[in-house]
Amino acid sequence: MSLQLDRSVFGSPVNAGNVLSYEDAHRLLNDWVKNDRLKLHMKQVAHLMKSWAAEKEGLNEADQWRWEMAGLLHDADWDQWPDLHCKKIIEELEASNIDPEIIHAIASHGPNHFGVEPITQMDKMLFAFDELSGLTHAYSLMRPEGYGGMELKGIKKRFKEKGFAASVNREEIQDAMNRAGVELESIMQFIVEKQGQVNWG
Ligand SMILES: [Fe+2]
Ligand SMILES: [Fe+2]
Repeated sequence: MSLQLDRSVFGSPVNAGNVLSYEDAHRLLNDWVKNDRLKLHMKQVAHLMKSWAAEKEGLNEADQWRWEMAGLLHDADWDQWPDLHCKKIIEELEASNIDPEIIHAIASHGPNHFGVEPITQMDKMLFAFDELSGLTHAYSLMRPEGYGGMELKGIKKRFKEKGFAASVNREEIQDAMNRAGVELESIMQFIVEKQGQVNWG
């Protein structure tokens, strides 16, 4: 099974700036994704994308939502149509005339799987956050106090333990950091802090 997208252009430049409303994006998420763990993952990545756009990129609210939306919907088709990941969500967003940058970010969130290189900072940060967010959350679940008192050294230790969250590809994460031009440790710190801010229920 190949998830290669076999193209590098997504959406149309005339749709730049077009987004789904917050309600419509969440409706799509809830319609398409029945797996609560996956839904949580997408909300966590969305929260990281929004926080990064606001605090590190200094973007305005409209742009923060574009980043958030890319995070929120990046795995939308993974639950019901894993063989079509991420073709199906790309086609849906193209049919809805959504901003091509958002679609490109989704298309490039796994360059080794989809064959689409991350280009913009939005692309690169989505790739950088994706797997590390999940690893950090897995770590919180094995701590009695969850995110409370979580420290960078703890997450660094788990990262080095190959048996922990074994499906998370460490080389891919390092590759993502290199592409984004960010230090692994600083992203870990950011994720610990931002994911720890929210009560994920
Ligand atoms: Fe994915
Ligand atoms: Fe993901």
